[in-house]
Amino acid sequence: SAKAASGSALLGFKAIPVSEEDLIVVPEGYTARPLVAWGTPISGNYPEYKLENTGADQGMQVGSHHDGMHFFPIEGEDPYEGSSTEGLLVINHEYVEPRYMHAAAVGQKLDADGYPVNADGKRDPDQVLKELNAHGVSIVHIARQENGTWEVVRDRLNRRVTGLTPMEIHGPLRGSDFVKTKYSPDGTMVRGTLNNCAHGVTPWNTYLTCEENWAGYFSNLKTEDQKPSLPREQSRYGVSTGTSRYGWELASNGADEFIRFNATPTAADATQDYRNEPNGFGWVVEIDPFDPNSTPKKRTALGRFAHEGVVFQPPVEGQPVVAYSGDDARFEYIYKYVSAQPYVKATAGGHLLDNGTLYVAKFNEDGTGEWLPLVFGQNGLTPENGFNSQADVLVNTRTAADFVGATKMDRPEWGAVDPKTRMVYFTLTNNSRREEAQIDAANPRAKNNWGHIIRWKEANNQPNAKQFEWDIFVLAGPPEDSRKLSGEALNEDNIFNSPDGLWFDADSRLWIQTDISESLMNKDEFAQFGNNQMLAADPETGEIRRFLTGPIGQEITGVITTPDQRTMFINVQHPGATTTDEEFAAGNQKSRWPDFDNNIYPRSATVVITKNDGGIIGT
Ligand code: FEO
Ligand code: CA
Ligand code: CA
Ligand code: CA
Repeated sequence: SAKAASGSALLGFKAIPVSEEDLIVVPEGYTARPLVAWGTPISGNYPEYKLENTGADQGMQVGSHHDGMHFFPIEGEDPYEGSSTEGLLVINHEYVEPRYMHAAAVGQKLDADGYPVNADGKRDPDQVLKELNAHGVSIVHIARQENGTWEVVRDRLNRRVTGLTPMEIHGPLRGSDFVKTKYSPDGTMVRGTLNNCAHGVTPWNTYLTCEENWAGYFSNLKTEDQKPSLPREQSRYGVSTGTSRYGWELASNGADEFIRFNATPTAADATQDYRNEPNGFGWVVEIDPFDPNSTPKKRTALGRFAHEGVVFQPPVEGQPVVAYSGDDARFEYIYKYVSAQPYVKATAGGHLLDNGTLYVAKFNEDGTGEWLPLVFGQNGLTPENGFNSQADVLVNTRTAADFVGATKMDRPEWGAVDPKTRMVYFTLTNNSRREEAQIDAANPRAKNNWGHIIRWKEANNQPNAKQFEWDIFVLAGPPEDSRKLSGEALNEDNIFNSPDGLWFDADSRLWIQTDISESLMNKDEFAQFGNNQMLAADPETGEIRRFLTGPIGQEITGVITTPDQRTMFINVQHPGATTTDEEFAAGNQKSRWPDFDNNIYPRSATVVITKNDGGIIGT
């Protein structure tokens, strides 16, 4: 393999500069092409993308706001084996931008939250349906063509999972009072998955989609007996006491599947209204991508919070399954799940996610750390302290973690496990609200605008250990306020901030993706970083090099290669999001990516990256 002129043998490409262009830029010798943009037809009668698409059309098309993603080779059960020319691309769809979605919205009044409303303040039911159907997950059969490009295969395996798809509740919450609703009086079912941010892949080759900022999708207008606050399983997560994020509960047809987003108690008991609807969200959801008729399952043993993603330790026969997940909000926590049953390849399956122990991380000042179990009856999680069952502990995971004294982190986003060393890396994207008095060794900067990446090794390198040792891999930021593993500052080849997506390829190359908020991007001290980007790092030397820059207004998120590592897929989410409502109204779009067609809006899309010499990506 070609070694770069200097530095890490893992990083064989020349760093590219920061960029403010409305383009994808990759290093010399690489090619990047968009694929499966929002609205690409994949099933049913394959409706072509246009602004006039109905809600039903959207249910047959790729969703919006692409995020975490995996490539499942069409054959083979090992992510490092199997076909590299044909597979199922499974993509999360985090949220929607209504101003880009509806033809009618062109002449319609926009609510302050950006969604179109009728004169009476109600919402058009088909617009609500379209927005729900643009959330969730797309499962898309794709294949490489003779000419090297990739295309959608029109196949029965193609599927949309949306904000309306019926799902089973599994694990300790199943059948508990917390999830009994008018829709599911026995507390076993819930409709849909929302705010599907990052993802995970189980050792038995199924897909996990994670529900992140679901709380704002619900409204609870507070009844007399709820004053002064909502129940803690809503208030601790930020369920709205006004209208919800998209106002779906305001659908003018009063359809049950829409008005359920109003969780205000209205009836004598929980089986007659939707007070418990929010308790069906905030979970990790398992989907079998190869069975289009399978019912997705919410795996409640992994806890309820703003789940960013979930990442597994490589499985070991006869040992427990171990997975990590971050709660992406300021001052929230990092968690680890350890299955009760051992992993046995021949029988491994989703049951391993229903029975196990959820731990939360405490990072000590001396570089050691502890995993604190969130188990009913232990560590004071008892009725005397307000915890009455394991279901209660899990539906209130944040409150339980507060109670046991976990370490409040600077917004934990993606995690990644180095396949060579089993070390775990996590991005802490930023936290502008941390004050001097709140600094600790693991979150060492006040007003942490830039973010950092922390890593740890489990004691004795046993994934199910109760202790670990940690250090900081990189403090992101400008040259004057950054630090690599070597102690050196970042420079023009690698300055970045707000690390979010994180993934190790099979050679232990660490890929880092950034998400500078659209409110800060390209402005003031953030301008020097340009548009959001992707970098690659050598985990041993700490060297980092910029590999890709994205178009205007977007974030780069989601990354996977084919098993042969010669095709990489990444996602561009929310291009043009920096366009103000005034610019939007005047027809001045900041981005036209990826279509560059002035008659349509910018669209989230996957990007396929190949090396022109057919080589391994990153070499
Ligand atoms: Fe959806 Fe925390 O990113
Ligand atoms: Ca993210
Ligand atoms: Ca984002
Ligand atoms: Ca983010």
